[in-house]
Amino acid sequence: MSPTRPAAVVVLAAGEGTRMRSATPKVLHRIAGRTLLGHVVAAAAELAPEHVVVVVGHGREAVGDHLTEHLAGPCAAVGADLRAVVQDEQHGTGHATRLALAALPGLTGTVVVVAGDTPLLTGATLAELVAAHHAAEAAATVLSAVLPDPTGYGRVLRTADGTVAGIVEHKDADDLQRAVHEVNSGMYAFAAGPLRTALDRLTTDNVQGEEYLTDVLAILRADGQPVAAVSAATAEEVLGVNDRVQLATAGRLLRDRLVERAMRAGVTVVDPASTWVDAGVTFEPDAVVWPNTALLGTTHVAGGAQVGPGSTLRDTAVGPGAVVRVSWCEGAQIGAEASVGPFTYLRPGTRLAAHTRAGAYVEMKNASVGEGSKVPHLSYVGDAEIGVASNIGAATVFVNYDGVEKHQTVVGDHVRIGSDTMLVAPVTVGDGAYTAAGSVITDDVPPGAMGVGRARQRVIEGWVGRKRPGTASAEAAARAGAVEPGRGPEQGGDREQVG
Ligand code: UD1
Ligand code: CA
Repeated sequence: MSPTRPAAVVVLAAGEGTRMRSATPKVLHRIAGRTLLGHVVAAAAELAPEHVVVVVGHGREAVGDHLTEHLAGPCAAVGADLRAVVQDEQHGTGHATRLALAALPGLTGTVVVVAGDTPLLTGATLAELVAAHHAAEAAATVLSAVLPDPTGYGRVLRTADGTVAGIVEHKDADDLQRAVHEVNSGMYAFAAGPLRTALDRLTTDNVQGEEYLTDVLAILRADGQPVAAVSAATAEEVLGVNDRVQLATAGRLLRDRLVERAMRAGVTVVDPASTWVDAGVTFEPDAVVWPNTALLGTTHVAGGAQVGPGSTLRDTAVGPGAVVRVSWCEGAQIGAEASVGPFTYLRPGTRLAAHTRAGAYVEMKNASVGEGSKVPHLSYVGDAEIGVASNIGAATVFVNYDGVEKHQTVVGDHVRIGSDTMLVAPVTVGDGAYTAAGSVITDDVPPGAMGVGRARQRVIEGWVGRKRPGTASAEAAARAGAVEPGRGPEQGGDREQVG
């Protein structure tokens, strides 16, 4: 077992988050592609604790579902068992911690306590907290931070010799105590046994009438137990999210951190201020990100690839040397040296092989495009399989929907689909086949054949001179020697609607 491995991390997340003014529980609001709680649990999981206990109350069903659906897996991956403990009525952080410990009877070792609304905390800082706690052989160690404006936070009180005497809440503090700038981050490491006995002795004798977890420090000190404080490397890590302004601030800070991490790993980010990167995004060195670009979910950008400007990619893999400009891509795989955009919409299930092209005003979904094949302009490709080295002419539509069900289209290798072809699925165009421009293809086209599905053109001579006399078109036609009015060879054409 790692020397810093705690027995449990307790995440306090039962509060209402009134100031968010939201139907969504506060800890389920998202920044950088994860819930606030998701960020906290991810940091907790880096400690590889035996247990992660999340105290839930307000919105407990939604929070509980989120835990089982999204967070249990990552915890299990590091050998941590994740569970929720319900706190029906919120009688304070001490009460919440007491309920969490009650769910782990007989637990010994180190217990880390964090809040569910501090998404900027890192696993590294928690590990430093635990290491300092062990080094001091303390019963309790609080992570503190020095803030220019400590208003609202609990203050760390120290004796003349600098040892920690306790924590006083802002609301309970006198003027002298409020002048202290060293604040309680709300993150602690405790020895399980002393914590448990101290929690049983908390009172509600304070301004808020709550059981304060912070009182544990003074109780332990009065027992003669060592109590310590360790300062956070950056004050930003302790930032709590209580309203939407702080949500945006935390989102910006996290974005800065993720973009910086990418740059340090060898990614060129042309304009960090307009680049948004989710926590789950990965890069290879020498990827380039142009301005106004959002890389979301599990997006991966390989080396030499260029993404942006003006692109949003969610859960999309961009291969080496590929280029994606001014496009929206979700759940797509973009092969090496492929070219996407500008103004391309790739939907889930799009698989572009190497050296392919999805050009301007092209939408694709659930479609695989074989190596070297191109869909250069103005097309919809849905539920399709396209072979290698084929070309799909401009304005082609894969007509996949009959109003009730979706159907599949198969296009072979080295096919030439003429411009403005409607491929009415289910239909197959064989290897080396062609379709004529403007065709509606409802029957399979065998390998090497030409599929033509369109009306023959008719020419009505002199129509403009007869039907639009005196117009600029008629004059231009006359100058060009067009057949004169009334003398055309096809008088019957007068009644045709030609537009
Ligand atoms: C708390 C600390 C304060 C510290 C600050 C840091 C106490 C008494 N005060 O104050 O010293 O500076 O955090 O941000 O601990 N919660 C529950 N059940 C409850 C009450 C709270 O689960 O009964 C959860 C909340 O959902 C929240 C966390 O505990 O995630 C902190 O509670 P909050 O009321 O925000 O405490 P602060 O007033 O911020
Ligand atoms: Ca509060």
